[in-house]
Amino acid sequence: MHRIAPSILSADFARLGDEVRRVIAAGADWIHFDVMDNHYVPNLSIGHGVAQSLKRHLKRADGTPVPLDVHLMVEPVDALAERFAEAGADLISFHPDATRHVDRTLQVIRGAGCKAGLAYNPAAPLTGLEWVIDKVDLVLVMSVNPGFGGQSFIDSALRKIEQARRLIEASGRDIRLEVDGGIKVDNIRRVADAGADTFVAGSAIFGQQDYAAVMAAMRAELAGAHAAQALAA
Ligand code: DX5
Ligand code: ZN
Repeated sequence: MHRIAPSILSADFARLGDEVRRVIAAGADWIHFDVMDNHYVPNLSIGHGVAQSLKRHLKRADGTPVPLDVHLMVEPVDALAERFAEAGADLISFHPDATRHVDRTLQVIRGAGCKAGLAYNPAAPLTGLEWVIDKVDLVLVMSVNPGFGGQSFIDSALRKIEQARRLIEASGRDIRLEVDGGIKVDNIRRVADAGADTFVAGSAIFGQQDYAAVMAAMRAELAGAHAAQALAA
């Protein structure tokens, strides 16, 4: 099923606990946590100490935990991935070109008890995915260049999502297909139609007063995509 993962990169960092509680109450499925190191990407964000402090806020009113979806835009990856696993990450994604040994990094993440994701930049092909797909729990297709919120969706991501969907289906494994960058109410349906099932949205949600209204509008679009797929099947 479809998941919406608000990116807290666009939240008010001075009130992060409140922001996370508000967006969860408004219907967030996951919390997307962007980690930038001013090396792999030209920006600096938040680290594992913040993740650890946020962890206790990641639950719904009935106590159900909300997954912490960590997107590492850092180089190298392995040591920081372990810190985020200790801090309570549920999923950890990294960019294959940011680590020397992709297969080993996947093992580090899974060995630390987390689900592992591979993130592909707009110019990056999915080369190599098939050789590690047995160790991957999530494929993250970047639809902007990593480093900043609020950029415009790059259309070529749609074809890459279709390709990733085919590889996932061929693997027969339960792998989520996440898209990150420039997702809005007015394009989420096209992205779902291409085969994505998990949608990161930062500025589209945190840039509005009413987080619940934005996510409800996104879900209405996704329900349309779902109905169209069912009709076609
Ligand atoms: C970009 C980050 C994204 C970003 C998305 O490097 O990985 O998660 O926060 O922000 P929007 O939805 O504003 O494009
Ligand atoms: Zn991200």
